[in-house]
Amino acid sequence: HNEIFEDSYEASKVVAAEIADLIRQKQDKGEACVLGLATGSSPIKVYEELVRLHKNGELSFHNVITFNLDEYYPMDAENRQSYYYFMHQHLFDHIDINPENIHIPSGQVSQEELNQYCIDYDMKIKQLGGLDFQLLGIGRTGHIGFNEPGSHINSGTRIITLDHITRRDAASDFNGIENVPKKAITMGVSTILKSKRIIMLAWGHKKASIIKETVEGQITATIPASFLQNHPNTTMIMDQEAASELS
Ligand code: F6R
Repeated sequence: HNEIFEDSYEASKVVAAEIADLIRQKQDKGEACVLGLATGSSPIKVYEELVRLHKNGELSFHNVITFNLDEYYPMDAENRQSYYYFMHQHLFDHIDINPENIHIPSGQVSQEELNQYCIDYDMKIKQLGGLDFQLLGIGRTGHIGFNEPGSHINSGTRIITLDHITRRDAASDFNGIENVPKKAITMGVSTILKSKRIIMLAWGHKKASIIKETVEGQITATIPASFLQNHPNTTMIMDQEAASELS
């Protein structure tokens, strides 16, 4: 279902509170909490709030294991544009997560190792009992992770070619589209859909038309986010602007 908030700040606090509750519930049971995480502008305030809860002494991440959705390819971890850098800057450097519990697809794997690397990524998630929670943004192409239009519902983690629109949207971060990598490693659609709980975030008028297609349109690989319509435990959280074209 959809939840529409006045603004992204209020919404992000609600999302962070749900994640914090889940982590604590798992702690009470002595279990690990397996989180799927996203980068980009959409989740930044959620991470800020999680960091705030931690700094306040209200939340520990000692039982948390994370898997990020994606990474550009090729990409050095130290590069300021890497998702590795983003996640450390916005979350991991400020919390008490065990570094060994952090998984971000590596943009430095050799071409020869890539296939097996992606298979292993999905296998690790599976061996931990699957993702308890997956946080998603949505691209203007309808991508989730970097599953661009055409991504199969059964796709696993793999290397993909980025859509031109996605590269254009990233151009300002990279000082021009010519510097945006042409490829990325992404968790697959099926990897994402196996998560027990999914929250997708969408803020701002730029997301309004893709949100309409995702929520009210046909379920189709042309809009990979539309596959979420069939997931039993997904909430699309948006602000008024992103929801403005919904009927
Ligand atoms: C990021 C990711 C992408 C973004 C999407 C929206 O890890 O998987 O799907 O969530 O491109 O990006 P923002 O939030 O910057 O609008």
